[in-house]
Amino acid sequence: MSDMDQSIPVIAIDGPSASGKGTVAALVARALGFHYLDSGAIYRVTAYAAQQAGVALEDEPGLVELAHKIALRFDGVEVYLNGAAVGDVIRTEEAGRAASRIAALPALRAALLQRQRDFRQTPGLVTDGRDMGSVVFPDATVKIFLTASAEERAQRRYKQLIDKGFDANLAALLQDLRERDARDAARSSAPLRQTADAELLDTTSLTIAQAVERVLQWFQVAKTRP
Ligand code: DC
Repeated sequence: MSDMDQSIPVIAIDGPSASGKGTVAALVARALGFHYLDSGAIYRVTAYAAQQAGVALEDEPGLVELAHKIALRFDGVEVYLNGAAVGDVIRTEEAGRAASRIAALPALRAALLQRQRDFRQTPGLVTDGRDMGSVVFPDATVKIFLTASAEERAQRRYKQLIDKGFDANLAALLQDLRERDARDAARSSAPLRQTADAELLDTTSLTIAQAVERVLQWFQVAKTRP
């Protein structure tokens, strides 16, 4: 089946770190019985694999070679690297920073493109990241730019880390989010930005359920478009 087969619907949700796009995307996928791709996890696990293999995070050819070699598998929220579950190791702030650094390298992004497109399978895909609507699935059925204020996002990330039993510092998280946003938005290759054809969903004062409902409504409308 062609990966650009328009008959397979795609809901592309892009946005900055800790906006809640992953939670919303996973719930939308569950509501529709669609597959779910957390594209950020691919960057996170690739950065982790590089660190394990002693490949420097700025070694573009080395990272490309690694990206072609590693076996990645998703099972629910768990990610498997070469058969072993990576668990929460890729969910730390440090892992996010490392992912953001390698994500600025164009050749690495190109090397990871097909892996992401392979997730487009019947009956449909919900995916979240930075360039799902702009680069990976430009023909997505519906594109959403999901965001929230930096303060609200820092609060959400703080709560998430504390709930998982990690240490967290709100001021440091806010600073870190701002730096990561700036790097993700400033890079020349697939920068983080709202495209003209994407719906804006500001979740600063929305509940998760409200955000999910909104996405489902947009999808229902888009589906009936000729
Ligand atoms: O969504 P996340 O925080 O798990 O993503 C981690 C990093 O990966 C993020 O800072 C930028 C990068 N990323 C990207 O460049 N493109 C994507 N589609 C997803 C993530």
